[in-house]
Amino acid sequence: MTDTLATRSGPPNNFSIDGFPEPPATLEAAREHAYSLPLAQIDVANPKLFHADVVGPYFERLRREDPVHYAESPTFGGYWSITRYNDIVAVETNHQQFSSDAALGGITISATSNTALPMFIAMDPPKHDVQRRAVQPIVMPTNLRNLEPLIRSRAAAILDDLPVGVEFDWVDKVSIELTAMTLATLMEFPQEQRRKLTRWSDVATAVPGGGIIDRPEQWVEEMTECFQTFQALWHERAAGPPGNDLISMLAHGAETRNMPAYEFQGNVVLLIVGGNDTTRNSITGSVLALNQNPDQYQKLRERPELVASMVSETIRWQTPLAHMRRTAVQDIEFGGKLIRKGDKVVMWYLSGNRDESVIERPNEYIIDRDRPRQHISFGYGIHRCVGNRLAELQLRIVWEEILKRFPVIDVVGKPERVYSTFVRGFRSLPVRIPRRH
Ligand code: HEM
Repeated sequence: MTDTLATRSGPPNNFSIDGFPEPPATLEAAREHAYSLPLAQIDVANPKLFHADVVGPYFERLRREDPVHYAESPTFGGYWSITRYNDIVAVETNHQQFSSDAALGGITISATSNTALPMFIAMDPPKHDVQRRAVQPIVMPTNLRNLEPLIRSRAAAILDDLPVGVEFDWVDKVSIELTAMTLATLMEFPQEQRRKLTRWSDVATAVPGGGIIDRPEQWVEEMTECFQTFQALWHERAAGPPGNDLISMLAHGAETRNMPAYEFQGNVVLLIVGGNDTTRNSITGSVLALNQNPDQYQKLRERPELVASMVSETIRWQTPLAHMRRTAVQDIEFGGKLIRKGDKVVMWYLSGNRDESVIERPNEYIIDRDRPRQHISFGYGIHRCVGNRLAELQLRIVWEEILKRFPVIDVVGKPERVYSTFVRGFRSLPVRIPRRH
């Protein structure tokens, strides 16, 4: 089979990292820059600001002075930034006027109507609803309860295998390992090939030149292999009895079994990115956040019952997907601005999660907040993350098992972040587990 989504649509991120301005070197410099620019020149859609982790002050100024902000990006064109928590909720709950449809450009700032992949996150009702329902059983409470012992035994084995007293990369050895194993289980994908899932999920959202792929053609080559592999799995599952895995659910679902191949392939990307990158980056983010806030790490050691609320606080803090985008389907007045039909509307979750009018002391990492699940990292409304409970479960288990074994995991170098305005994540995090005397 040569006709795959990759050859039909091409890469969704068909631009190079080189074209973006260099970011300020430090957070202090970014703050000075953010507050010295004329408002109209604030353009947060620069992957280098996220790679250097200095985008915060720009969002802060927008939240304060221009919460519904229009900017022209040289690469992505004109777009609106929605930066306050309650405005994001308002856009999310108005899917009649703010569409997710791939045909209009889908759910990321970088995609266009030609490149947005067809998947149910990039659909509006009613089609979105029936496809979402087809995969929902995977995250039902009974299924999560069944998965828990398996995830726990894997987490335990991964942690028991870690080297002590030497530096290693937490991303590779723990975050990727555990989440790739879980995803392979959800898809009944061969465990021994699970790193292919990680690679494909990295490539799917990669920007050429950003360290994962060099050229747009590489995206087509690698994703073609991904789609061909999953197409074969689809045929295999469709020929057998209905099973409990995501591919079988789509291949047998009354509303999905006749979906075109390219739509199935789009949904594969959704499930491998959704089920992989986000949780992986939250696991890494938890180690980093606890190291940057030693008082909170101490509190966690003293009160391990705080793990569940630490997990939610980490997901807020990390905000593993920095944004989702919508397209206005008609002219609409919003926050005192006129958003025109066809305009891109970008909801910056990373900014909503730092909105001081909704979240108390939002710039602090506090693992025993009163309402730790009050964050917008999983979105809101009809597209709210399907996998949120599964993500929380994996993080909770990994930390319960860490606390049984290691009093501390020390971050011993700088994290390497990814070049993306979408996935807020890490390539590596050097750590060391101290020897016990
Ligand atoms: C949707 C974040 C884990 C599968 C979403 C959305 C966000 C998100 C922001 C879009 C919400 C919206 O537009 O309102 C996250 C984060 C995770 C995570 C931060 C981990 C910490 C997972 C996992 C899975 C998953 C583990 C897979 C089992 C999905 C799917 C959708 C989705 C299928 C589309 C839902 C729809 O359109 O109806 N996620 N996710 N996610 N997520 Fe997650």
